Amino acid sequence: MSSDTIAPEVGDERRDPTAPWPILRIRGLGVSFGGFQALTDVDFDARKGEVHFLIGPNGAGKTTLVDIITGLTRPTTGSVLFDDVELVGHKEHRIVHLGVGRSFQAATVFEALSVEENLDIAASFRLPLRRLLRQRRGTRPEVAEALEVTGLAPYADRPAGALAHGQKQWLEIGMLLTQKPRLLLLDEPVAGMSPDERTRTGELVRYVARDCTVLVVEHDMDFMRRFADRVTVLHEGKVLKADATVAEVQADPVVQEVYIGRAKDDRNSVSRGAAGDEEEQA
Ligand SMILES: Nc1ncnc2c1ncn2[C@@H]1O[C@H](COP(=O)(O)OP(=O)(O)O)[C@@H](O)[C@H]1O
Ligand SMILES: [Mg+2]
Repeated sequence: MSSDTIAPEVGDERRDPTAPWPILRIRGLGVSFGGFQALTDVDFDARKGEVHFLIGPNGAGKTTLVDIITGLTRPTTGSVLFDDVELVGHKEHRIVHLGVGRSFQAATVFEALSVEENLDIAASFRLPLRRLLRQRRGTRPEVAEALEVTGLAPYADRPAGALAHGQKQWLEIGMLLTQKPRLLLLDEPVAGMSPDERTRTGELVRYVARDCTVLVVEHDMDFMRRFADRVTVLHEGKVLKADATVAEVQADPVVQEVYIGRAKDDRNSVSRGAAGDEEEQA
C-alpha cells in the first residue's frame, strides 16, 4: 500500500563523495490515532555512521516515530527511506532483515537464560536452521565480540534475570549487535541508569557507531550533550529542529522554551548548568 507515499528524490548527496550520505531519510511522515495527530509532516535525515539524537518532551512522538521506522506502526502519510529502500509497508521482520535493529524502553531479554545464551539466540536469528545446529559448539565470534564490548564477559554464564538494570540494557544492545545492524534505534537507553552506567552506555553507543548509524531517542539532555553528533528535536508531533548540532540546539530559543517550560516538572533542560549536569560529576 505504499503507493500513496511520497516519491523520494534520491541521489544528490551521493554525487559528492565527501558528503556523509543520509542512510535514513524521513519525509512528510504523519500518523493519527483515532483522530489524534501524533506526528505531523516529519522530515529529517540521519547520516551514515553518526550518532543522531531524537529528543523532545514526553508525548512529543519519539517512540511513535521509532515504531514507524521499525514497521510496528503504519504512518498515515509519508516515507521512510533506509539505504534507498522504502520501509513503509514492510513487516517488522523484513525491516530487521534489511539491517535495522531496535531496543525498547524496557529491556527485552530472556531472563531465565544465561547472558551468553541470549546473545547466541540473537546471533542465530538470521541463520538457516541447519547451520544453526552445526554451530552449537564454542562461542561464535559475534557473540564473543558482544560479550567484550558490553563488558558482560565476566557474566556470560549468569542468568540474564540476575543482571543489574544497566547490564540488561547492554545485553539487549549486545543482542542487537550480533545481528550486524546498519541502523540501530535505541529508545531511552539510559532511563533509570546511574551516572556511571550512563557514561558506559554512551561509550558503548560511540563504539557501535564505528560501523553503524545510531538513532538514540532520549529525554536526558545531559546525555545528549555528551554523546550526540547531530540532533533532531520533536515537539507535539512536529520537528522543531532537524539535523542540528548540539550547540545549535542549545542556542535555539524555541527549543529552550519547550524544555525550560517543562523543567519544573521533569528536571530537564537543554541549557548548560541545568539540573541534569550534576550527574556528570559522579
Ligand atoms: N497507539 C496509540 N494510540 C493512541 N495514542 C497514542 C498511541 N501511541 C502513542 N500515542 C500518543 O501519541 C503521543 C506521542 O507518544 P509517544 O510517541 O509515546 O511520545 P514520546 O515517546 O515522545 O514520549 C502521546 O500523546 C501518546 O499518548
Ligand atoms: Mg517514548
